[in-house]
Amino acid sequence: MEIANSLKILKEAAKQAINDAVLLGDLETLRVRYLGKKGEVTAQLKQIGSLSHEERRSFGQQVNTVKVEIQQLLDSRHNVLEAVAVQAQLENERIDITQPGRQRSSGALHPVSRTLERMQTIFDQIGFDVATGPEIEDDYHNFEALNIPADHPARAMHDTFYVDDHTVLRTHTSPVQIRYMHNNEPPIRVIAPGRVYRCDSDVTHTPMFHQLEGLAIDTNVTFADLKGVLIYFLREFFEKDLGVRFRPSYFPFTEPSAEVDIACVFCEGNGCRICKQTGWLEVLGCGMVHPEVFRHGGIDERKFTGYAFGLGVERLTMLRYGVNDLRLFFENDLAFLRQF
Ligand code: PHE
Repeated sequence: MEIANSLKILKEAAKQAINDAVLLGDLETLRVRYLGKKGEVTAQLKQIGSLSHEERRSFGQQVNTVKVEIQQLLDSRHNVLEAVAVQAQLENERIDITQPGRQRSSGALHPVSRTLERMQTIFDQIGFDVATGPEIEDDYHNFEALNIPADHPARAMHDTFYVDDHTVLRTHTSPVQIRYMHNNEPPIRVIAPGRVYRCDSDVTHTPMFHQLEGLAIDTNVTFADLKGVLIYFLREFFEKDLGVRFRPSYFPFTEPSAEVDIACVFCEGNGCRICKQTGWLEVLGCGMVHPEVFRHGGIDERKFTGYAFGLGVERLTMLRYGVNDLRLFFENDLAFLRQF
């Protein structure tokens, strides 16, 4: 009787423990504890020695019944805990279909690229082809052929990056003039957009920037043609009838040479901080192709005349979009770039 009682107590304890289990893993521990080979229910069988023959039989049956009952308790608790776990997982992985979707922002061209495209479109419409040349350039094309010999003071105008004694990172797009003359016969009407490099860095200078070179060669090309093309270009580019002036200047590869100013786009020529109170902003250098350059390019300077110009692309971009720090173009700050 006492033995049957201890079985009953054991069963009650197991029932309690199973109902208290909260994790599926706890149930396995309980199964081992009660029903395992060395478990508590099996341990009950050890008492069998103290029982009479009849008692043994019924006691064995009772132990088996308890085993089955505990297994059933384990199974049903297992089902409950599994359902809870599935429910929790569903909660966790639930997708709120009322949330707005993630926006994927679309890419856009860099403001300098936009300006280059815009410049090219305008020149394309008046019959200019596009030419290119290498950014790693030899001394001959970058200087010598442009009438800038080794000891020429104009070399000091360019803070040159040297690759070796005869090779430089081109300091301007003008070497493309020479390359184009070597490979083409007049009439020539080309622009050469691209990167140029100067060993210089402050608020208004970056070591790499862009220029757009222009070159036109034909019989009877005059300075008036140059003026006409540049004034047309600048007014198209800024979409207004702005003032343009040509100031005498010096470049070794053009004669005569000029620098071109536009009426300040910020103050309409009244004078402000950007134009340093002058009312004018310098935007390019230009001139009539120097006879020496024609000779280097293999073009008969008695038969042909031509003009050339070089525009600063970042400068025009800043003026068009009202950007006041050149370095912003190269920092890749999305907050800045997204404004264009
Ligand atoms: N290459 C000159 C510069 O970089 C610009 C220029 C080009 C001037 C063509 C005259 C003719 O400053």
